[in-house]
Amino acid sequence: MKLKRILKRILKWTSLAILLALFAGIVLLFIAYWRSTNDCDSMVSPSNPMKAIVYCDYGLANLKLKEIEKPVPSDDQVLVRVHAASVNPYDWHFVEGTPKIMRMMGVGLRKHKDTRLGVDFAGTVEAVGKNVTQFKPGDEVFGGRGGAFAEYVCPRASRAVALKPANITFEQAASVNIAGITALQALRDKGNVQPGQKVLINGASGGVGTFAVQIAKSFGAEVTGVCSTRNIDLVRSLGADHVIDYTKEDFAKGAERYDVILDNVPNHSLSECRRILNPNGKYVMIGGGGPNDSQWIGPFGRVINTMVLSPFVSQKMGMMMADANQKDLTVLGDMMQSGKVKPVIDRTYKLSEVPAAIAYVEQGHARGKVVITVE
Ligand SMILES: NC(=O)c1ccc[n+]([C@@H]2O[C@H](COP(=O)([O-])OP(=O)(O)OC[C@H]3O[C@@H](n4cnc5c(N)ncnc54)[C@H](OP(=O)(O)O)[C@@H]3O)[C@@H](O)[C@H]2O)c1
Repeated sequence: MKLKRILKRILKWTSLAILLALFAGIVLLFIAYWRSTNDCDSMVSPSNPMKAIVYCDYGLANLKLKEIEKPVPSDDQVLVRVHAASVNPYDWHFVEGTPKIMRMMGVGLRKHKDTRLGVDFAGTVEAVGKNVTQFKPGDEVFGGRGGAFAEYVCPRASRAVALKPANITFEQAASVNIAGITALQALRDKGNVQPGQKVLINGASGGVGTFAVQIAKSFGAEVTGVCSTRNIDLVRSLGADHVIDYTKEDFAKGAERYDVILDNVPNHSLSECRRILNPNGKYVMIGGGGPNDSQWIGPFGRVINTMVLSPFVSQKMGMMMADANQKDLTVLGDMMQSGKVKPVIDRTYKLSEVPAAIAYVEQGHARGKVVITVE
């Protein structure tokens, strides 16, 4: 009897503690939500203005071209006059704040913390900090830095910025950073692609795909690109040995086996992908979380599935996240210089048209890259 009473009491206090913790959690989340803010409220009129795309609230309609303070490079930064920038699906994830789990992971619950947009840029160095030795005013550069939809950016000289090859335009150079680095690292580091291997690129006509086809070919692989009918000629012109038109044929049902699958459009189950991989093949998941996918967790469910599955199967399966850095920008610069890789540009928009450019990319049917010209 005594034991029963003690157990009842433990149960009662444990339930109460759980309820209290839940209540405290909800209150804290509520407070964090309403306290979440950004610098829009404290913006003063700039003394040395530049034009930039700024957004104060989530949503495409809130993107505005504004005059804000022109950045000043710190000791280890370079000031770059931006001539062109490019749009990535990354940008609309931030504009929309989706998948919403991102908001809880530091992007900002009610309002996003960072009000600036764009990453990829190309331009001319205007000034350098006193510790910078590798760049000088007048150098033509390309790379990645938050807030690239603007007249100026200040990347750190040792981070994602490199000299632009002379044989490519600013528009082409601006399209490289995220898409080119993703394709390079996925094929070289995750896929470990070797000459003669069979590589399938799902989503071969998009930003990442158009770089991936060319890079895989430069590694000596036999490349199969998956795209729709209207992009067959484009993907073939980039060097693909075989092209599968996804509107007519399902690559996952074919008889061919691949050493590496680079998946920009994870629209097949992992078991379907495994079926067409060689026993020691590698599945590299790049994309996911399009506008029609889960608004809450986006591609993260599939990422967890690949992580759980991978240790139990002979093939290597996993997600990869691009890491923009100077070394790989230089590798891509060399590939462009030697003509092995040529960025594909779909459309160009003006800085004031960034909302339209992002809306276009959000539809998921860009052919290569969408570029913003900043003049
Ligand atoms: N993990 C990372 O670090 C990383 C880095 C960059 C990008 N990403 C992600 O990777 C994905 C691709 O990025 P991206 O810049 O290449 O995007 P993107 O340029 O918007 O890709 C659009 C392309 O996808 C093609 N596509 C759409 N549906 C398809 C289908 N069912 N089968 C085959 N192709 C299809 C489209 O061709 P059609 O018009 O012919 O349909 C279009 O050419 C995105 O989800 C992005 O968020 C991840």
